[in-house]
Amino acid sequence: MAVVLAGTAPLAGQTTLRQAAAVRAIPIGAAASADEYGSSDLLKNPAYANLLSSQYSMLEPGNAMKWDVTQPTQTTFNFQPGDELVAFAQANGMRVRGHNLCWHTQFPSWLAPYAARATPAQMATLLENHITAEVSHFKGQVFAWDVVNEAFNDPSGSAVPGLRDSIWYDQPGIGQSGTGYIEQAFRWAHAADPNALLFYNDYSIEGPGAKFTAVYNMVQDFVQRGVPIHGVGFEMHLMTNGYPSAAGLAQNMQQLAALGLQVHITEMDVRLPVDSNGNASAANLQAQAQVYQTIMTVCLQQPNCTAFQVWGVSYADSWIPGFFPGYGAALPFDKNDQPTAAFNALVTAMQTTAPMLNANYVVNAAGYQGGAVAPGEIVTIYGANYGPANLVDYQLDASGKFSTSLAGVEVLFDGVPAPLVYALAGQVSAIVPFGVAGKQQTAVQYQYNPGNGAVASNTATMPVTAAAPAIFAFDATGSGPGAILNVDYKVNGASNPVAAGGVIQVFGTGGGAIVGGATDGALAPGAAALATQPVTATIGGVAAFVGYAGAAPGLVNGAMQVNLTIPPGLAPGPQPVVITVGTAASQKGITVAVK
Ligand code: G3I
Repeated sequence: MAVVLAGTAPLAGQTTLRQAAAVRAIPIGAAASADEYGSSDLLKNPAYANLLSSQYSMLEPGNAMKWDVTQPTQTTFNFQPGDELVAFAQANGMRVRGHNLCWHTQFPSWLAPYAARATPAQMATLLENHITAEVSHFKGQVFAWDVVNEAFNDPSGSAVPGLRDSIWYDQPGIGQSGTGYIEQAFRWAHAADPNALLFYNDYSIEGPGAKFTAVYNMVQDFVQRGVPIHGVGFEMHLMTNGYPSAAGLAQNMQQLAALGLQVHITEMDVRLPVDSNGNASAANLQAQAQVYQTIMTVCLQQPNCTAFQVWGVSYADSWIPGFFPGYGAALPFDKNDQPTAAFNALVTAMQTTAPMLNANYVVNAAGYQGGAVAPGEIVTIYGANYGPANLVDYQLDASGKFSTSLAGVEVLFDGVPAPLVYALAGQVSAIVPFGVAGKQQTAVQYQYNPGNGAVASNTATMPVTAAAPAIFAFDATGSGPGAILNVDYKVNGASNPVAAGGVIQVFGTGGGAIVGGATDGALAPGAAALATQPVTATIGGVAAFVGYAGAAPGLVNGAMQVNLTIPPGLAPGPQPVVITVGTAASQKGITVAVK
């Protein structure tokens, strides 16, 4: 682990958490407040607002979207504080996590008395109305919700803890047994905003243990039964006692990844004993920094850890001193909004953790199929989570070839830098060097140089195949109308169908080696046939004459052009097109519009 420096005032031009996270393709957030309790509106405090917007790319209302604020009476809603935070986030290009729709505490004053005399059916109606009203109100503005919060008891020993008593579960509950009320809450939230990511959020589940097991069992059941859930929030309210270990945290994340679930670190803070001025010792601050560095490092190493959030913008609005007398100093910015050692630790982790490279995420840029690469195949690499914060398009080098270094990004195949089509933190497109032809496999490595030295990924070995053809979809989805020109060079489509006997030019990639060779990254000087034969095609399931199959003149080597003649007898409308190079067929679902 890199040495963590002591907290220092932000150096002029010093990177912010937001900048450091942007090149890691991960949102970094903080719990934030507006005027939810009618007290001081923190968002109107310029220092608070500047720290929040400059250092974070995401915010989560610490209280503004909870029941005690949003439903002050049984028949009224108050979304104004949440709206203020959403407006601030939108004005500052920040994402918003919503928190929370169903919890056992922090009720408005009328709710507990109401629950004491209500029937389960009445409670179900109340919860459904609340979730529907709130999620509908913030629809499209909140990208992820903590739907249900802290529903399990704290473990005693190794026994898997049960569900916490609450007005939603059993006092009197909503008429569901077991985790049924949780499932129902997720279903109501999904119905109100089908595009929002839905999370279950809890503490003390960041490492292996009975409570994590209880949560895992529930979400596994939900996933198996198709309950709309997308992830689990690890609150990460920690001390410096070594929980969770890096290995334990990684293990839990991997178990949830295997279910297809994301993990958000939702409420991180590391509380320290403080003196009467709220100051912690240097030694404790360094120990705390190491905890922050460890958690951020593990998150960056796990593909399904997709958000990192701290619970408070600075010491000043941290919940810790109020709930843990004698403790504080828990966040990356101190009471004067100055970066602490924890800040430096987070930045260090983001600047030094190697980007991940997973062979499963190296796929054909046109058809998104993976598993092997072909000479000259244009591929897209997802998950290499260290790169330019904004998309950088290809550049031609002095010799007119696609450059092999783009905004600090390089992709190597057996150490050979590949021409790059575009680069973005988390998604890069490269062209497999033709030199892999004839090999059984190739070693792929990704590296990014943010300006102070390249940080290289692990090496992923991939099989090499002669051809992996795919046709570009016009909308880049991998399916639907293809990237196809009619003989008059008009784009084929419903408004420009082609008649039987007509010739179309179909564009794709993955055709493999070119007769006579092809120069990596160069624009194809003219027609040159695919070396892998035969090349056949069907349109509408009927054999189509292949007039040409090879490099696409004027496009970069690796792009494939196949000229086909529309066979007779096809019904008008979209007809499926499949091109087979050797024994490899292009993806299903690409169509050509036929008259
Ligand atoms: O200051 C107001 C007061 O003016 C008002 O009259 C009163 C009405 O209840 O509320 C006061 O605000 C307090 C608020 O913190 C601001 O300090 C609330 O009483 C108090 O309940 C609230 O505590 C919140 C706590 O959850 C409640 O359990 C903390 O802010 C909030 O950070 C904390 O957050 C939770 C997450 O939601 C779930 N995970 C654990 C985390 C820490 O407990």
